Amino acid sequence: GANSPADLVFTVDIGRLNEVVEMDLVQAVNSDTLNSNIPSQYRDPEGLWFGLTTRTRSIYASNERVKDGEITTYEELADEKWKGRICTRSGKHPYNLALIASMIAHHGEAETETWLKGVKANLARKPQGNDRAQVKAIYEGVCDLSLGNNYYLGKMLQDEEQTKWANAVNILFPNSADRGTHVNISGMALTTSAPNKANAIKLMEYLTGETAQTMYAEQNFEYPVNPAVQPSELVASWGEFKADQLPLADIAGLRKAAAKLVDKVAFDQ
Ligand SMILES: [Fe+2]
Repeated sequence: GANSPADLVFTVDIGRLNEVVEMDLVQAVNSDTLNSNIPSQYRDPEGLWFGLTTRTRSIYASNERVKDGEITTYEELADEKWKGRICTRSGKHPYNLALIASMIAHHGEAETETWLKGVKANLARKPQGNDRAQVKAIYEGVCDLSLGNNYYLGKMLQDEEQTKWANAVNILFPNSADRGTHVNISGMALTTSAPNKANAIKLMEYLTGETAQTMYAEQNFEYPVNPAVQPSELVASWGEFKADQLPLADIAGLRKAAAKLVDKVAFDQ
């Protein structure tokens, strides 16, 4: 609050950025540098938060039991052919809430409810664990598809024990052929109390410039938010995709409706 010595808040997911906005802990920044480095869908229209990196909510598919092209959209996760074959973490996790919110934005609440019921009916087990635990479950034959953020593939490949999990899956970028893959961000915001406001804004600007964006790209397996900077060689090797152009501010506004649907269909039960 007002006594905080912090100038900036760094966190992941639009949901968490939205929370600091709703708690009135951050202030608007109007910077031409930030506005030109960051595409408009990845920053708050009023300058209350700014994206630093983007990450896809991907589908991971068994490279033994799922054929190339057998699933290309989020919508198909509700298809009966996947009965007993899907693993995911909790529907209430911010990563899944944002995906469900994006489904509401594109299809409306009623259609999203039907979809979510369909996905639930296809689950191999009750939602549990984190994104990497689902890829492990694919490796162990518990399920054939899971939902997960793209950077976990890089993290698993860096981990001696988890490399075999990563090698059991292909990473897919759903809806690349139509409305685009759902992406979320890691981001930053200037605190209301910021004691070093001018320098904090300089740091924000630096972090969205080419030098810092290249460092992010090389080290954390995410996509640079600045379109002038390319992803790392490993990340680029996973393939190109089209990102959903829906503003994240819209997704933030639908998160509560998404959480209600998760409860209504008892997704986690
Ligand atoms: Fe994460």
